[in-house]
Amino acid sequence: MQQAAFVSSAPAVPPSGWVRRFTPVLPPGLCLDLACGGGRHTQWLLAQGRPVLALDRDPAALHALQQLGAETMLHDLESGPDGVHWPFGEHTFDSVIVCNYLHRPLFPHLLASLKEGGLLVYETFSDGNAQFGRPSNPDFLLRTGELLQQMQSNPLVQMQIIAYENGVIETPKAAMVQRICARRTSALTEQDSLCLRTAVL
Ligand SMILES: C[S@@+](CC[C@H](N)C(=O)[O-])C[C@H]1O[C@@H](n2cnc3c(N)ncnc32)[C@H](O)[C@@H]1O
Repeated sequence: MQQAAFVSSAPAVPPSGWVRRFTPVLPPGLCLDLACGGGRHTQWLLAQGRPVLALDRDPAALHALQQLGAETMLHDLESGPDGVHWPFGEHTFDSVIVCNYLHRPLFPHLLASLKEGGLLVYETFSDGNAQFGRPSNPDFLLRTGELLQQMQSNPLVQMQIIAYENGVIETPKAAMVQRICARRTSALTEQDSLCLRTAVL
């Protein structure tokens, strides 16, 4: 009951301005809110009439998000033998949102999980955030330029960068963040990828 009360009112932390900025250009269709937490972005997207699949390993808000109309998945993305457990196989989404969560081995899966034309909107803390508090552990901080580099982490997926920023934000609290919006472009075949790698060598 308490959980439902929490999510049926406006979330305590408003949705990220980066997510709000790109919401109008998200392709129609299912958006995956990865590591959704309390669901501030899931709620925002549902309010804009967007269907959402909200995933988190913490069940706290999932039931209430389901009551609001989201599909939900309780899942630990880091539970596999190599520290990664991607639960969607070959399934693809029209858009994926990740905010304030970083687990580097997931990037190749994230890119492959986008449909052609699908949009990735990613924002999280970056190097330099320690001056503002936590997170300060480098495992949870993007290195300079890293989001741009991660857009090439899957040789079978081509991403077109739409917007990228790295700097200080003031709200909801001061933090150093990196954020990107990128679109998956035409799929590369294994053969294309081999040619590209050969060309680079
Ligand atoms: C800082 S919160 C961000 C929540 C939300 N994305 C937002 O911006 O408000 C990080 C979230 O990542 C989730 N998380 C951390 N490790 C996870 C894992 N291994 N699998 C799934 N979710 C995880 C946590 O449960 C938490 O809800």
